[in-house]
Amino acid sequence: MKLTRRSLLDTGWKVGAALLTAAAGWTSWELLRPLRTSAASGKVNLGNPSQYAKDTATYNTAGRLWVANAGGHLFALSQKCPHLGCRVPFCESSGRFECPCHGSIFDIGGEHVAGPAPRGMDQYTLSIENDELIADTSKRTDGPPHGAATYLTPPKGPSCKGQG
Ligand code: FES
Repeated sequence: MKLTRRSLLDTGWKVGAALLTAAAGWTSWELLRPLRTSAASGKVNLGNPSQYAKDTATYNTAGRLWVANAGGHLFALSQKCPHLGCRVPFCESSGRFECPCHGSIFDIGGEHVAGPAPRGMDQYTLSIENDELIADTSKRTDGPPHGAATYLTPPKGPSCKGQG
């Protein structure tokens, strides 16, 4: 077979397109693959429960969840907004979860306060094993319905909306 400049360029484009497709596929897999957890059951060790101070929210990278202490009651809250799945950050100044995508707001207990989310933040089952707090990310329950206000308090301060 005679190798011409034209056939070399044709082959080059095909190889380039195949590499781009493979890279896109790998990136999609990295984004969508199941969470890596410490055990096949989906259990994530969150450490000693006493480290979570009252009325604070702490992000746990391994579980991709928030550990919230609402007035002494601990929750493991999914980071995914129940509206369209954006990652919901905690706003330290207001003391609330504020979704940056469409403005849903949740109190420290993950209860819906405002915005288009159909319910509060989803929760994972928590248990204590050997004095360690364990979240089971294979057991998620829907967040509380609109109107739940067990942990609702006035905002601590200004909202984070519009910052950053
Ligand atoms: S994804 Fe959070 S309000 Fe829409």
